[in-house]
Amino acid sequence: MTPDLHLRSTAPDFKDLPWGYSLADWMGRCSRLEDAPRGVSRHPVVFVNYSGTLYAIKELPLQAAEQEYQALVQAEALNLPVVEVTGHGKNITADGTSGVIITRFLEGALPYRLLFLRPGFESYRRHLLDAIAGLLVQLHLGGLFWGDCSLSNTLFRRDAGALRAYLVDAETAEVTTGPTTPRLRFHELQIMEENITRELVELRVNGQLPTVEPGVPTLDIGAYIRLRYQSLWDEVTREDVIAPEEEYRIYERIRALNQLGFSVGDVELTPLEGGKQLRLRVEVTDRNFHREQLFNLTGLDAEELQAQKMMNEIHELRAMLSSEPERNMPLSVAANFWLENKYTPVVERLQPLVSRQMTPHELYCQILEHKWYLSEREQRDVGHQAAVDDYLSKFWLQPRLEM
Ligand SMILES: Nc1ncnc2c1ncn2[C@@H]1O[C@H](COP(=O)(O)OP(=O)(O)OP(=O)(O)O)[C@@H](O)[C@H]1O
Ligand SMILES: [Mg+2]
Repeated sequence: MTPDLHLRSTAPDFKDLPWGYSLADWMGRCSRLEDAPRGVSRHPVVFVNYSGTLYAIKELPLQAAEQEYQALVQAEALNLPVVEVTGHGKNITADGTSGVIITRFLEGALPYRLLFLRPGFESYRRHLLDAIAGLLVQLHLGGLFWGDCSLSNTLFRRDAGALRAYLVDAETAEVTTGPTTPRLRFHELQIMEENITRELVELRVNGQLPTVEPGVPTLDIGAYIRLRYQSLWDEVTREDVIAPEEEYRIYERIRALNQLGFSVGDVELTPLEGGKQLRLRVEVTDRNFHREQLFNLTGLDAEELQAQKMMNEIHELRAMLSSEPERNMPLSVAANFWLENKYTPVVERLQPLVSRQMTPHELYCQILEHKWYLSEREQRDVGHQAAVDDYLSKFWLQPRLEM
């Protein structure tokens, strides 16, 4: 049966899938089905493989599928961290007509259950909470009210030892122009707390939630995320009052936001008290500041914290190389030098450790961390290759954290 699908141009046509059957009945009828870790869901979701690229297909009411599609397209246009939507459409089965939405499988994603269940992931759990708070701040700055923030509806990717959260389920999402209103933000945090408490109680009842975990609250997790959200929101949206001669404070403010990963759009200065003071308001656009810089310089598409670490290294390298007499090296040349002489040789040696969840970028960041640790211990810079030697000798035979 030919499906009635509305697809974006880069997608396969999905014609060879067993349309005409509900997704719940595709097992045994479709050779493209793949098993992959997933969160709890009300609707049937299947993963299909086209030349190594996985797509998630979800069955839901027709109108809901179209709405979710529109919300994801809008969110993507705002550079928000959401799954990439591929298309939506209609599936006519013997039981009636239903809608489907197709998204590209988020490679390297860790559903929260794995982060709680798998040994070896303990250190990520605190980052998980910060990542959710960070995701909500980004969504609200962009004007997206989610309406169903939960652990199941979020996917996590490793980001330089921490995690970056992605919105996966946009069924209830609404995009407005300008930041989300205080009333909706308040409502969102309430929903988030309720959902997450419910999910954690469920994990606890099933004996899957570790009871004692240093530094990570177990019962007040929702409240903890709310606090982290509030402090990040206040930091990003704060307005400063500066004197006209304090222009450097504009630069300082922009730099502080960039350090948090936010890119800056408009900077607004409003005279107060007849011009004796100025109100400084800085608008942030997205949280991909270092990511975009690294991509433009090297073509590497990393997560934000990974990119920040790599950009720091490129800046250091540039300073070192420029300190030679008569040499002022452009950043693009330093970036190229770094790519050829630092990044590539390290990543080549780490190839055997690369997996879906452990990307070359993440491994490279681990080597930077390991190099720092060894250098501290030896009170000298041990260099990248020595760090790789030591890292491989320690972790090569360890079980791989792959799902
Ligand atoms: N693009 C994707 N990449 C990776 N995993 C995905 C993707 N889309 C869906 N999933 C997985 O499938 C699960 C269910 O998807 P989703 O939350 O959209 O379904 P749902 O039935 O609408 O959920 P709910 O019960 O919250 O309404 C997610 O938790 C996630 O683990
Ligand atoms: Mg869901």
